[in-house]
Amino acid sequence: MSYVLIIGAKSDIAKAVAREYAKHGYDLYLGARDVSELEAFAQDVMTRTQKEVKLVELDILDYASHQTFYDSLEEKPLGVISAVGYLGEQEKAQSDFSQTQKIIDSNYTGVVSLFNIIADDFEQRRSGFMVGISSVAGDRGRKSNYIYGSAKAALTAYLSGLRNRLYDAQVQVLTVKPGFVATKMTENMDLPEKLTAQPQDVAADIYKAQQSGKSVLYTKWIWRWVMLIIRSIPEFQFKKMSI
Ligand SMILES: NC(=O)c1ccc[n+]([C@@H]2O[C@H](COP(=O)([O-])OP(=O)(O)OC[C@H]3O[C@@H](n4cnc5c(N)ncnc54)[C@H](OP(=O)(O)O)[C@@H]3O)[C@@H](O)[C@H]2O)c1
Repeated sequence: MSYVLIIGAKSDIAKAVAREYAKHGYDLYLGARDVSELEAFAQDVMTRTQKEVKLVELDILDYASHQTFYDSLEEKPLGVISAVGYLGEQEKAQSDFSQTQKIIDSNYTGVVSLFNIIADDFEQRRSGFMVGISSVAGDRGRKSNYIYGSAKAALTAYLSGLRNRLYDAQVQVLTVKPGFVATKMTENMDLPEKLTAQPQDVAADIYKAQQSGKSVLYTKWIWRWVMLIIRSIPEFQFKKMSI
């Protein structure tokens, strides 16, 4: 058994994670919508690493397809990494529930639907690892992105419970909380350089944390302390702030 399943595989972080795992000897399943767009990328990874890369079509919002999706993987993966996410538009979401629902379902419900299926399999096999990319945005709700933040908070709580459930079965569950990362998702934002990670640095952090059996990873590491400070601001002050 040699495959790692990466979902949301067109994301810049997922691509960097794919390169990192292939470099370390793993074969890959890359799951994404319109997965044919990943053909050149997959070919490049295979040429550089001599590892297998298989493309699998996946829409995280098509819950009914998730069992069939997982059943169709001939060789079951030894781990799964989710980079699925959708930032959406906070202001639009405030008055348009369909936008709110898309944010919640893309970041939370869809990942839960597929992770439930994979967790059952890993629990039965008593092995495996599950990595969910959540966000520091889930650590405290802010007016600028609290719909997205609340979906990530739910994902963080889900992963915490899953880790607790799967501990006895020796299945590792890693929650990844990136701060700012320079990707397509943030390309229109003016991000502070010192607090912004590159996708390949996040990927290296994820690989190292997963291999060493960690439970929660902040990346860049400094975000653990930034969020500690942000979480400790009293609510009577926090509600007046724009951060
Ligand atoms: N960039 C940051 O600063 C940052 C910070 C904290 C956390 N994160 C999290 O890191 C992860 C990767 O984000 P990123 O920055 O690399 O941004 P991204 O490129 O927007 O990645 C999100 C990925 O999720 C996929 N996705 C969305 N809806 C989907 C669906 N219905 N079915 C299947 N795939 C779907 C997208 O696929 P398509 O390409 O098909 O749209 C995209 O590849 C996300 O979970 C994000 O929330 C990012």
